[in-house]
Amino acid sequence: MTIDHEMVPTGLTGLTGSTDSGHGATAVAHPNIALIKYWGKRDERLIIPYVDSLSMTLDVFPTHTTVRLDPEARTDDVVLDGRPAEGEPRRRVVLFLDLVREWAGRDERAAVDTRNAVPTGAGLASSASGFAALAVAASAAYGLDLDPTALSRLARRGSASASRSIFGGFAVCHAGRGVGEAADLSSFAEPVPLPDFDPALVVALVNAGPKAVSSRAAMRRTVETSPLYRAWATSSKGDLTDVHAALRRGDLEAVGEIAERNALGMHATMLAARPAVRYMSPATVAVLDGVLQLRKDGVAAYATMDAGPNVKVLCHPEAAPRVAETLLAAAPGCSVLTARRGPGARLRSADEQ
Ligand code: DP6
Repeated sequence: MTIDHEMVPTGLTGLTGSTDSGHGATAVAHPNIALIKYWGKRDERLIIPYVDSLSMTLDVFPTHTTVRLDPEARTDDVVLDGRPAEGEPRRRVVLFLDLVREWAGRDERAAVDTRNAVPTGAGLASSASGFAALAVAASAAYGLDLDPTALSRLARRGSASASRSIFGGFAVCHAGRGVGEAADLSSFAEPVPLPDFDPALVVALVNAGPKAVSSRAAMRRTVETSPLYRAWATSSKGDLTDVHAALRRGDLEAVGEIAERNALGMHATMLAARPAVRYMSPATVAVLDGVLQLRKDGVAAYATMDAGPNVKVLCHPEAAPRVAETLLAAAPGCSVLTARRGPGARLRSADEQ
């Protein structure tokens, strides 16, 4: 795998051939999994996180999004996985397009067609790949020429985790400083150059159905009601410092330990919310037991979970088959897939399928 192309999103740098006469563009982006989690917003409108986060963009589950301007249309047309989007998903896309129109000083409506390789809303980061792809496609379609930082800030306005999927490999998202415009300008992701760190992430899909509580609602409730939230947010700062050092050493064991404690701590904040938010299912716990067993057997394997029951396990690539086998045995009925670090968001050329 080549790493160089990961560092800079090719989105708007010299790929004009993939927009069609300036009115339409197609982009592809991949989800990312945070090793140090983002959970909680200090500004809900601008989507400014309370904490910095650090993630790995994956090479699986891409989202493909086409944005085509329609000067005749009076409303935006949004199609999600082949069906007209409704309710909250549609509202979020239209709000995002309004922002792109504001930045571009244009007012045409658009037709958006977006396809996810995984079920939307199942805690597999479809909003990260979704808004990263939409940011790249929509900004190109509306003729904006954004640098990677501006593109990441734009993606953040769709979903904070999407700011990281603009970049391939590892990325850190800054929570930013100050309030209002100052916060908006200082909260974005940037790549963490780690050309030699290439672990595997075994994804155990225990339930692909949509989650009962959206991550947005869950994090709001956690910030407002969980007595554990502040303690976790404070300890997360130390986790970020520690993980940077471990990543620089290429120390997968330390990276994994820090990521696991950070994710379990985040879930603890949710369990202490009122009422509690619990994404873990019995199958999740069975997979976590499998991870513990692997470690007892001398295999470096570390779990992280997002706003859903699915578990992602960090390990050395050569251990991935054994990890996958153990997780399958621990939670029969789940499906597993091994991901590696993947590329940043980019425009797709017209002849790519
Ligand atoms: C648990 O980025 O989906 O996956 O900004 O409200 O759209 P919004 O939330 P979102 O939350 C992701 C939370 C997480 C942790 C992470 O990816 O850092």
